[in-house]
Amino acid sequence: MDKLLIRGGRPLHGEIRISGAKNSALPILAATLLADEPVTIRNLPHLDDITTMVALLRSMGVELVVDEKLGVEVNANTINEFTAPYELVKVMRASILVLGPMLAHFGRARVSFPGGCAIGARPVDLHLRGLEAMGAKIDVDEGYINAEVKGRLKGAHFFMDTVTVGGTENLLMAATLAEGRTVLENAAREPEIVDLANCLIAMGAKIQGHGTATIVIDGVERLHGCEYTVMPDRIEAGTYLVAAAATRGQVRLKDVSPQTLDAVLAKLEEAGATIRTGDDWIELDMAGQRPRGVNIRTAPYPAFPTDMQAQFTALNAVAAGSSHIIETVFENRLIQAQELNRMGARITVEGNSAFIEGVEQLRGAPVIASDLRASACLVIAGLAAQGETLVDRIYHIDRGYECIEEKLQSLGADIRRVSG
Ligand code: UD1
Repeated sequence: MDKLLIRGGRPLHGEIRISGAKNSALPILAATLLADEPVTIRNLPHLDDITTMVALLRSMGVELVVDEKLGVEVNANTINEFTAPYELVKVMRASILVLGPMLAHFGRARVSFPGGCAIGARPVDLHLRGLEAMGAKIDVDEGYINAEVKGRLKGAHFFMDTVTVGGTENLLMAATLAEGRTVLENAAREPEIVDLANCLIAMGAKIQGHGTATIVIDGVERLHGCEYTVMPDRIEAGTYLVAAAATRGQVRLKDVSPQTLDAVLAKLEEAGATIRTGDDWIELDMAGQRPRGVNIRTAPYPAFPTDMQAQFTALNAVAAGSSHIIETVFENRLIQAQELNRMGARITVEGNSAFIEGVEQLRGAPVIASDLRASACLVIAGLAAQGETLVDRIYHIDRGYECIEEKLQSLGADIRRVSG
């Protein structure tokens, strides 16, 4: 199994390009199932999760032609199998995103029930209740969600009592082909929802209010083909900014959307970074100074993203002063603290809160990644630490970070992949 070997203690310096957003590309790939003509998607990141979604669509008979410029043409008309099998859903929960589009376009879908995972129970009850409100008949049998509808789905007024990104996406996609108007209340406002909605609009969907808590969708009879470019990955961008801040470095990111990173940039400035932004670039400079610890409370967008929480735990671990982190979106998402403590961090976890006493220097150690963002946290800690850090189970990192060691090497990091 591959591991990442990091010799820490060097400030990151230089410029990198940010890839297309994983969490936007996944629902957009699922959305191609709604169109009755080929859809071309550009700026797809080269990631294991994208490969899994492509494999899932292919397993259903969908034709995909991948070009060398990170683009893919998807033709859903060739679909001949309406099942998302356990083998693929178990490696990627986002496979559930094919449920709404498949049901809305083809009247039936069978999707393996996503189980629990390292960061908590993560139910999909709202996805299912919303589809039922649109007239779908749903039952769960032998670990599979079976959904069907006679004729078209019907527009509905649906209130989500928890803000859910995936739930909003599934229902938004399903509603585009429903008969009549759907109103989604307490919808997620993440930029990836806006990106998905813009892609659906390019396919002919009628959507208003995306990016607000109330999305109104007027169903249409068919969606056509389009060409769409996926937005930049705000979490990848945030991760490199934190890595630069933790190592007291200076970086410039290009091909980013600074306005999607407001909460993260505000916290980095509070930590002592000087930030400059342009239309599609961000610069961070620590002027060689040690960061200051910052308090974080995660919550749905536009508040501080849960997907950046682990990275800030690493930053706070080497920062001056004490700080606390409160995770409100997922249970059990502070597991990286234990590994950081093995590197000399001083973190106490109580329930969904972490109390951090910053230390001057972490020491390299062998550590084990437990999920995607926790592995990014350990890489940042390794870059900031003195000595060698060996991060095990980096298959998690390959799900969400394109060419991470190449990008970090180009910023001057001493990092390489080792096998065994
Ligand atoms: C997406 C992101 C993930 C991010 C998360 C929160 C993708 C592919 N993944 O995950 O990176 O960390 O948003 O920003 O985009 N919930 C329910 N019932 C439901 C659905 C969700 O109770 O039917 C709860 C979950 O258990 C969780 C919270 O809602 O506590 C938020 O989950 P959700 O927004 O759905 O996360 P994902 O879409 O799975």
